[in-house]
Amino acid sequence: MSDNPIGIFDSGIGGLTVANAISSLLPNEKIIYFGDTAHLPYGDKSAKAIRDYSKEIIKFLLSHHCKLIVIACNSASASVGNAYLKWVPKDMPVVNVIDPIVEYLSREKYTRIGLIGTKRTIHSRIFPKNLNKITSSKIIQSLATPLLAPMIEEGFYNNNISKAVINSYLSNSRLIGIQSLVLACTHYPLIENQIRELLGQKIEIVNSAYVVARKVETVLKLSSSERHERRSPEHQFFVSDFTSGFEQAANRFFGKKVKLQEHNLWKR
Ligand code: DGL
Repeated sequence: MSDNPIGIFDSGIGGLTVANAISSLLPNEKIIYFGDTAHLPYGDKSAKAIRDYSKEIIKFLLSHHCKLIVIACNSASASVGNAYLKWVPKDMPVVNVIDPIVEYLSREKYTRIGLIGTKRTIHSRIFPKNLNKITSSKIIQSLATPLLAPMIEEGFYNNNISKAVINSYLSNSRLIGIQSLVLACTHYPLIENQIRELLGQKIEIVNSAYVVARKVETVLKLSSSERHERRSPEHQFFVSDFTSGFEQAANRFFGKKVKLQEHNLWKR
């Protein structure tokens, strides 16, 4: 069991930022990644549509004998609650990208927290609702930034176009007075540097990839299911719709050469 892979999925290739953090922290672990590029973006879809897509993907990852599933997408994590996951085998750990961040925010000293993400994530209000269950002394000021994920997926970052779009969002009055900013979309680590340039050093940027990777490490340790095999693992990367553009972007998101295999779970 401990030699089995970790299954990770996202609407597209953004979740590779989480896969990359997991593989850096846990280099022995084998990863099976699924990017649902045929249905991207999830951020504008209904919660029901995202749940249906996620179900097929989780079934696919389970059929590859994954020992742990990571929902590496905030929009999917906001839509797929624990109640919905009842059909997943009881002993199968599922880590999403919201709970570890909420735990992290509850421990941090900041009281005025900015949060940017897709419409699905922001409109679900899942971050403020869950943080409020732990503490009432913090305020989350959230803003939907729907142009960012498609812009990044198209390769528009670290240039003047992305700078103008990011600047326009960050100037929104909803973010006035924040002490930290949560990047509540797994695509956003690619624009972290540009966000930092615009916000300055005083505002902490919370990049969920590392927080989630540490959560995965803890869960594996608790169940004694870390992979001990020393040979470097061969990861596998699947997408529901292949284009060479996705593959180039995947290399940038994962930080290493990635070979994408097309596997459309919805093609009958
Ligand atoms: N990466 C996804 C997330 O974290 C968003 C991209 C999309 O809208 O599909 O929410």
